[in-house]
Amino acid sequence: MRSKITVVGAGFVGSTLVQRLAERDYADVVMYDIVPNMPQGKALDMLQAGPVLGYDSLITGTNDYADTANSDVVVITSGFPRKPGMTRDDLVKKNQEIVAQVTEQIAKYSPHCIIIVVTNPLDAMAQLALHVSGFPRERVIGMAGVLDTARFRTFIAQEVGASVRDVQAYVLGGHGDTMVPLSRMCTVAGVPIAALISAERIEQIVQRTRDGGAEIVKLLGTGSAYFAPSASVLQMIDSILLDKKMIMPCTVYLQGEYGVNHLFVGVPAQLGAKGLERVIEIELSHEERALLQKSVNAIQELVTVMGI
Ligand code: NAI
Ligand code: 2OP
Repeated sequence: MRSKITVVGAGFVGSTLVQRLAERDYADVVMYDIVPNMPQGKALDMLQAGPVLGYDSLITGTNDYADTANSDVVVITSGFPRKPGMTRDDLVKKNQEIVAQVTEQIAKYSPHCIIIVVTNPLDAMAQLALHVSGFPRERVIGMAGVLDTARFRTFIAQEVGASVRDVQAYVLGGHGDTMVPLSRMCTVAGVPIAALISAERIEQIVQRTRDGGAEIVKLLGTGSAYFAPSASVLQMIDSILLDKKMIMPCTVYLQGEYGVNHLFVGVPAQLGAKGLERVIEIELSHEERALLQKSVNAIQELVTVMGI
């Protein structure tokens, strides 16, 4: 039987992800949104791309959670992006309502699914989804690290004139200004970047990575990035549905790893058929540990705002 994936939120990230999933051709996909008719219209359009692109994935658009029942994976992209003048706390409260209500329905209709959270502020929304669903930590995972690392890899590849495929990197911590791109562990075909790029340029690239989302928001004028975010979720779903056991940075609920307890933080994680299968602990330097702790404190502040 084909796997079933639900994507909640048929906006920029959600609908781009559904098109990418359809092209993978390994699952049927349900796209849910509160806006009447819109997900149905987008789904029909994508279905009609099937004969041209050669996929048979059944894509359904809906405003009814009953259609999402018994999904294997559910991705939450519903919510608002941050608008000018809005604080992070304002965004937390606005999206808390949406993500809590969505998670309740997901847990009711797909009690065995694996949830991937995308809505911002990502770390806090993942914490909320775990809290509301009552799922074990293996089945609630946030997407941020694959995206932040992809940005870091892009900039490094451009700097040294290499293929992005040859650049290995990790970004840890929260999805925000305090994220921790681990430049010490970044390599190009196994060569540490410190041997290829000056310390000053590395620092500039690290900062550009931290500001990666904001750079795109500014250029777009309205809304935020969606091509790279949807590709990043796709990589996580590939590893889960195909049980590939890939290791990638994900936002997961830590239970003592990295000295952090009961909080979602971005760390390297192995994803497979069971969802989160292993948290990988990297030995951090004193300075990296301090940066990670700063990021953990920022996540804790947002979680506190939610009062859960
Ligand atoms: P968008 O505005 O294009 O789409 C959001 C969709 O959610 C809309 O279609 C809206 O109708 C829907 N929605 C609102 N309330 C809903 C509800 N109660 N139930 C179901 N659907 C509902 O926004 P976009 O660009 O798709 O981004 C979505 C979220 O993902 C934002 O919070 C954004 O900040 C976040 N994001 C996170 C990234 C990450 O790395 N974690 C990367 C990119 C975006
Ligand atoms: C990004 O990093 C907005 O979180 C989103 O592009």
